Amino acid sequence: MPSLAIARVMLRELFTFSQVEREPEPDLVMDDPDKVAAYTRAGRVDGVMAPVYLFHGANILEILKPGDRAIDLACGPATQLGMVAELAPEVNFTGIDLSDEMLGIAERYIQERGYDNVSLLRSDISRLQALEDNSVDAVFSTMALHHLPDPAHLEATFREISRVLRPGGGIYLADFARLRSPASIQYFAYQYADRQPELFTLDYLYSLKAAFSVADFRAATAHLDGRARLYAPHVMPFMLAVKSAARSTEQARLRPALAAIAAALPPNHKTDLKDLKTIFRLAGMKCGLV
Ligand SMILES: C[S@@+](CC[C@H](N)C(=O)[O-])C[C@H]1O[C@@H](n2cnc3c(N)ncnc32)[C@H](O)[C@@H]1O
Repeated sequence: MPSLAIARVMLRELFTFSQVEREPEPDLVMDDPDKVAAYTRAGRVDGVMAPVYLFHGANILEILKPGDRAIDLACGPATQLGMVAELAPEVNFTGIDLSDEMLGIAERYIQERGYDNVSLLRSDISRLQALEDNSVDAVFSTMALHHLPDPAHLEATFREISRVLRPGGGIYLADFARLRSPASIQYFAYQYADRQPELFTLDYLYSLKAAFSVADFRAATAHLDGRARLYAPHVMPFMLAVKSAARSTEQARLRPALAAIAAALPPNHKTDLKDLKTIFRLAGMKCGLV
């Protein structure tokens, strides 16, 4: 069962028949040092993003195999990337971003944490010229695609994924989707306004307004030639994911480590994690690891 607050948003979305217009992000590439710092803080240990990173991290780990070369599209400060790199030391990761500010923070984080299976690349994710056809085993991306300027760039990015991914490769792409009601957008943006920097709340609000529609994602997913499926909650398309089938049963050994991270979350984050699992389960997406 979803929490009462989420059930209320679901009801509102169910009875909203129009959809708010998309407003592209004011900062497509995140280069403003204050905003980058606020975003980074929200993601590190105990930040409001912790349950989101845990949920997506488990899903990413499910589409990886030992020995893979995996890329993280628009890796930002490398919080998500670092989490999966730590749990999958036998996978080689490349984090890709276009922001020098973000890449600098990501580089320092990787050094501090001693991840020797992670490298970084400065590139536009809709034009992965540095990567050859069929050169990677897995592609993932979290909470970033809404930074692309328009649906044409979203489709270009998915075409690039299809080009660089080897046959049988893994895909996990998660992002916000555009809600129907402005009140639902306000609810999510200001949900934790009292315990996070104002800049992060604003960043979140802009992200929800910039989210692509489910229809935009459906059109982009068609470029993946059936290699992954779109999972979009019908009633409340707050977040969605494009995921391929799990590629290795070996990843089941990571369950205890992920359970320990979940157990250490504060109560409100545990509720968020439960809501995320419920929302995606209703959309038909399963994760065997969390
Ligand atoms: C909200 S952050 C998400 C970071 C990370 N994936 C996470 O889950 O925390 C979005 C990132 O997308 C990057 N970005 C925006 N447009 C991009 C593009 N066309 N190519 C590469 N990176 C881009 C921004 O610089 C920023 O670091």
